[in-house]
Amino acid sequence: MKISKTVLNKLLKKAKEMFKNSYAPYSQYHVAAAVLAKSGKIYGGTNIENASYGLTMCAERCAIFKAISEGEKEIKALYIIVSQDPSLPEATPCGACRQVLAEFARPDTPIYTLNLQDKKTPIMRLLKDYLPYAFTPKNLE
Ligand code: THU
Repeated sequence: MKISKTVLNKLLKKAKEMFKNSYAPYSQYHVAAAVLAKSGKIYGGTNIENASYGLTMCAERCAIFKAISEGEKEIKALYIIVSQDPSLPEATPCGACRQVLAEFARPDTPIYTLNLQDKKTPIMRLLKDYLPYAFTPKNLE
């Protein structure tokens, strides 16, 4: 699905609003995400860390779960923002978030990632680029 410039800007705006709520006192690595659901509504999320480190929730899954828990059935786009030294490797969604996305999005769903310290335009990759040969609900039909 082609995402219009207007919708992309709305996703970015939502992600920026969420960014200040990122709870990352341990890693100091703040992440925010916004998803476009099939209804057209946008849901935001942030990473939420925990003193018991393994319980940390990523921003992407936070946003996806917010959408699904509000009754959404499908994710049409994901927008992720970070703020990191541009010399570091590009920010990418973790494996767990890719798998969760594969449950609710299509292989050709676009994922945008923007480093606020870097370029003005986000990197865009498709879900199938990040998670080829995904195990999905189709495997259980
Ligand atoms: N993090 C995310 O929110 N999304 C990712 O895709 C990668 C990692 C968070 C988890 C943790 O709070 C911090 O970034 C460092 O791993």
